[in-house]
Parts: sequence; structure tokens; C-alpha cells
Amino acid sequence: MDVLAAAAERERAGHDIIHMEVGQPSAPAPRLVREAARAALEDGRIGYTEALGLRPLRERIARHYRDSYGVTVTPERVVVTTGSSAGFVLSFLALFDPGARVAISAPGYPAYRNILEALDLEPVPVRLRAEEGWQLTASSLAALHEDRPLAGILAMSPANPSGTMIGREALASLGAFCRQRGLWFVSDEIYHGLTYGEAAETALRHDDDAVVINSFSKYYCMTGWRIGWAVVPERLVRPLERLAQNLYISPPYLSQVAALAAFDATAELEGVKAEYARARDILLSELPGLGIGEMHPADGAFYVYADVARLTNDSVAFCRRMLEEAGVATTPGLDFDPDEGGHHLRLSFAGGEAVCREAVRRLRGWLG
Ligand SMILES: Cc1ncc(COP(=O)(O)O)c(C=O)c1O
Repeated sequence: MDVLAAAAERERAGHDIIHMEVGQPSAPAPRLVREAARAALEDGRIGYTEALGLRPLRERIARHYRDSYGVTVTPERVVVTTGSSAGFVLSFLALFDPGARVAISAPGYPAYRNILEALDLEPVPVRLRAEEGWQLTASSLAALHEDRPLAGILAMSPANPSGTMIGREALASLGAFCRQRGLWFVSDEIYHGLTYGEAAETALRHDDDAVVINSFSKYYCMTGWRIGWAVVPERLVRPLERLAQNLYISPPYLSQVAALAAFDATAELEGVKAEYARARDILLSELPGLGIGEMHPADGAFYVYADVARLTNDSVAFCRRMLEEAGVATTPGLDFDPDEGGHHLRLSFAGGEAVCREAVRRLRGWLG
């Protein structure tokens, strides 16, 4: 966020900035989504909905599990939320007692740690290794659990900041690990749909008790609509409903109507993804020659997490200099990993092909 603010400030001062720090699609919401919203707006009755969300949307999300993963989910288990961010708050409140220990990945999405701490829960960072594809493994969790029992784990695939994915077997062993020890398995599947090889696997395939969090923000290009969903075991539906009712009454009506149309916008959304794929190819082929080298080839999402140890040990200062001197905004690894993120950068290719080409051109000149 500081990088965003600094980039915006430089733009206001008249500088032309290339945005590689963004965590959101540059494409607009699909045409069908905007048309559905426009029609609902014309109709004018924009009121509260059921706290769990509009029934047709819950049904459509349930069908998505059958169509995309071959997994049966009843609409009753689908909870529509105000972005996945609200899905985390609702589920953490429903699942964990104060003080509970929840394993999260380091590097990882910074809000996990902050949400858990705000709710008086204890985030337990699990050190991920580039050699292990920046992913949680059941063996690293076992050691932490033996040390002091965990109440749950939070996994994410494809991952932010690395774009790497948890393979089918690894996901199955995480599910088994949680089941055997009675831990909650929370799976952040927000980057599903944005994969460049094999499709992502849902945790629900391996653990029907898993709590799956998802969103219309990324693949569906709907960040600002603040709409997402959770799939939870039946016994959690009522607690989540009561929490949602009291915390924010219902997710926004207009966004729910719009989100329903997003499932019919596949052709447009696949076109957006093809643009990311071309942008990804540019970064993967060009960055190593610039010394922004060691990285996994982002199987999903729209980020690469690059080791820049040859260039710096202070990723914050490095990003600041890159912004000021090359006009390229990136995110310092320290945002995702306060202990070891000093020699990493996250570069987003969500801006597409032309943005990535220009970034490479500027960085080549800057790094020289
Ligand atoms: C891994 C991950 N989870 C969750 C979110 C939150 O997204 P939203 O609340 O828009 O669904 C983000 C946003 O960048 C993210 O990267």
C-alpha cells in the first residue's frame, strides 16, 4: 500500500509510472456483469438480501463446483460474502476461540496475519522455501503442531506472492493432516481460474470439512464490487449467518446480481487470462537476464516472486529507488515476509503484455 501511495504521488507530480505492484486485474468487469448491474440499478430496488446471499447466486456457485471440479456442494453450504476478506473474518470468528494458533505461510498474503491478530488469534508463520515451491507441506506443519497445538491451517493455491500451486498429492496430505489431528483446514482459492498449466484443485476434493474461501475479485475482474464466497460444512452455516447478519447485514445486492452473470462471461474472462499468459512469458524470459533472476514460473495468479539477492538486501529501499529512478513500481518482499523478504520482490503481470514490455525496457536501462 505504501508503494501504491508513493507511485500515485509520483504520478500526481507528472511522472509516468509503470505499475507492477498492482494486485488486481487491469481489465474491467465483464460486459455481462456490467449489463446485469445496469439492469438492476434501473429497476431501482436495491435492498438488503438474506445474510447468506441471494439464493440464485448460492445455487450458481454450488453448480460451479460440479462443473469445474466435479465436486458436489449443496447451495446451503455456500455463504456469499463481502469479498473474500469478509469470508476470512466470518470463518475465523466461527472456527476459532481467542488465542487459537493458526498456521499461515511466510511469505504470504499480509492481511492473514493482521486479520488473525485483530481477532485475538495467533498467526503461526510457517517458513516456506523456494526449493519446495514456496508451499506449505504437511511435514513442516507437523513440527509446529507438536511444539504447541495448532487449531487450524490456512493454505493458499495459487499463492500470493509466488504464483506457485499446491499439487494434488500435497493438497491431499494437508487435508489428511488436518483430519487426523482435528484441525480446521481453511483454503484460500481466490486465484482459482487463473492458472497457466494444470487447473487448480479445490481442498473440498480431499476434505469435505474444509472451509473454502473464494472471490469474484481476481479471475472475474470484480475487485471493487466487494463480492466473494465461502463454502463451509453444514454445521457452520448458521453461525456464519448470525455473524454476517450482525456484522454487516448482507452482502451488497447489486454486486450479487452482477456476480451471478460472471459465470456466463467465460469467453471474455479467458481472453483476459490469455493476456496475462503473454505478460507472464515476457517476465519469465526477460527478468533473469536483468539479475532479477531466481523465481518459480508462476503456475497461477498474476505474480512472480523474484530473488534479487544479487542486487539488494533491502527490498524496501530497492523498490523505492526503482520507482524514483526507473519509474517502475513493484512490491518489496518484506511486505509478504517480514523476516526474510529483504531480497525478494513481487512483480505483478496483471497490467498485461504492453506494461510488462515497457517495465523490462526501463529496468534494462536502469540496471544497465
Ligand atoms: C491471497 C489473497 N487472498 C485474499 C485477498 C482479498 O481479496 P478480496 O477481499 O478482494 O476477495 C487477496 C487480495 O489481494 C489475496 O491476494
